[in-house]
Amino acid sequence: MEALTLPGLSRAAGSVRLPGSKSISNRALLLASLAQGSTKIIDLLDSDDTRVMLAALEKVGVGITALEGGAWRIEGCGGAFPVKDADLFMGNAGTAIRPLTATLALSGGHYRLSGVARMHERPIGDLVDGLLQIGADVRYAEASGFPPLAIRPARIKLDAPIQLRGDVSSQFLTALLMALPLTGEAVVIEMTTELISRPYIEITLNLMARFGVEVKHEDWQRFMIAGGQSYQSPGVLYVEGDASAASYFLAAGAIGGGPVRVEGVGRNSIQGDVRFADALESMGANVTWGEQFIEVCAPASGKLKAFDLDLNHIPDAAMTLAVAALFADGPCRLRNIASWRVKETDRIAAMATELRKLGAVVEEGADYLAVTSPGLACRERRFAGRQSGSPGTQSAPAQSFQVGVAIDTYDDHRMAMCFSLAALAGAPVTINDPQCVNKTFPGYFDAFAEITAPVIAIDGPSASGKGTVAERVAAANGYHYLDSGSLYRLTALAATRAGVALDDETGVAALASSLPASFEAGRILLADEDVTDAIRSEEISAGASKVAALPAVRAALLARQRAYRRFPGLVADGRDMASVVFPGAVVKVFLTASAEARAERRFKQLIAKGMPANMHALLQDLQDRDARDAQRSVAPLLQCDDAELVDTTELDIEAAVAAVMELIRPTHQVNGKK
Ligand code: DC
Repeated sequence: MEALTLPGLSRAAGSVRLPGSKSISNRALLLASLAQGSTKIIDLLDSDDTRVMLAALEKVGVGITALEGGAWRIEGCGGAFPVKDADLFMGNAGTAIRPLTATLALSGGHYRLSGVARMHERPIGDLVDGLLQIGADVRYAEASGFPPLAIRPARIKLDAPIQLRGDVSSQFLTALLMALPLTGEAVVIEMTTELISRPYIEITLNLMARFGVEVKHEDWQRFMIAGGQSYQSPGVLYVEGDASAASYFLAAGAIGGGPVRVEGVGRNSIQGDVRFADALESMGANVTWGEQFIEVCAPASGKLKAFDLDLNHIPDAAMTLAVAALFADGPCRLRNIASWRVKETDRIAAMATELRKLGAVVEEGADYLAVTSPGLACRERRFAGRQSGSPGTQSAPAQSFQVGVAIDTYDDHRMAMCFSLAALAGAPVTINDPQCVNKTFPGYFDAFAEITAPVIAIDGPSASGKGTVAERVAAANGYHYLDSGSLYRLTALAATRAGVALDDETGVAALASSLPASFEAGRILLADEDVTDAIRSEEISAGASKVAALPAVRAALLARQRAYRRFPGLVADGRDMASVVFPGAVVKVFLTASAEARAERRFKQLIAKGMPANMHALLQDLQDRDARDAQRSVAPLLQCDDAELVDTTELDIEAAVAAVMELIRPTHQVNGKK
């Protein structure tokens, strides 16, 4: 895909399960490969950068097996790599090439390391200088100071402290620290400059300790590794969620109302980037910390405060703040971010160029950015309506942002992810080359859609016509459509066929959580069988109402329903779309009709299909189902306080569709779409 146009967005709420941390994943893979014993790594990030690392390790002889559920088994080499001659392609993965360079330099073999063109522009000279001091044979194959590199066997001598610069990239220190225990000797590294991005070194030391190697340090300037230490597998290692990736969702919560929760990192995270939440707090956002989650809401006033912050400790997540500055109430300054210039692209220059396209006033320095929002339009943002969902409660802030802008991403995943937030200003934003997010977060835009894509929730009793209305409203807006009732019907059908009793909560929930259902061109499939008509039988209708009363079944279907929330938007119909599944829906409709009118419609439908029908029995059946759906303990059928009532007793389908479209109109004006 060459470009992805995000619709103008008005709010963000929901929760996101984070992919594994890139920083932890690539360090863990290397340490597990060097360790004695086998390591099972759970929740490893699946992305371009980790694939580069896995492929390189495999090439130098590490035994690697993919296990179920995103876990991996790494057979440690118990020291240096067994393969002594290899060409390794490192893509643009800094977290792979730096530590591998140091490790291979101590492995006594012939290795060549190269990457994409941008990788050959990213400095590695400070690391090579450090390695040359201990006798390693590392040469530049092209430009001095940059990859590609050629490594040969050499006699390593550790008689003096290694002198290392720490002001270009902390990865050089990480690389040496992880590699040096291979020598088994005592060694000291002395920083000759200030050390930047210190929290990344903390991740390194933390993981080395999990693999049994202790490093002491004096004030982050002198690092001491005692001799006689070697890496030992911890057996199993869990990878935390990626705290840098969390920044986009947390910022979305602060900008778009929230609450937005990220799951997979929490208060005890070893990743420095969780401190990004503090920066949001300083902008007035409300932050809640859990063991395994962080949650952010917009300030009660809806206004984010301007900031002036030293962001040296969170260089990656800090990029997100540059875009969050578009929503602040004054000029913002990001200081001490010089390392941005040697990342995937020159991030200071790239960020300045793209923010200006949106109308921001940006001043760019060697190590800082000053960002002033276009006309400070966001001052007027209000989130009073975010819980109520009524469409008219938000003001339209889009007018002073440049509309219809296409953002270039410079093959930099973070540029793409950061600028998705700009759509929260209410106008569409195009992201060029969106697949660059694959570097660290292949499912990013789907995850972002799950908290921001507009949802129109249409709830109501059986046979109220909401299915037909919802489908037509979806088509008229070019939105996706979710018929949630069909999931309960499919569950009832699957249970009936499998001989599972409809009141066997555990058994039915197990079926619901792995339902092989798909929806194709108006047909509903269960394991490739067309069951569109079968799930509409009276028997399955009654069964669906029974299984829908089981809490475990509802829980099993929840994530599945939420995954239908995609760009440009979703119309979802059911019983609890507004109350439980999409409580942040921008428009909530309660569509109903008298029981008599609904029974009559059903009667006519059946007769038209040539099926037998009895008006009295149909009415009785509907009333029974209504009672069951309304009286159950979980997610009973009810009209939410903030839902608009549409009574279709006297309306035909066209009139009902028109009534719902009328309710949606103000939202689309906010989004700048109409
Ligand atoms: O909308 P429908 O008639 O196809 O729904 C079938 C059954 O599933 C109905 O008895 C209510 C139940 N249901 C539910 O409990 N929650 C939903 N979101 C959708 C349907």
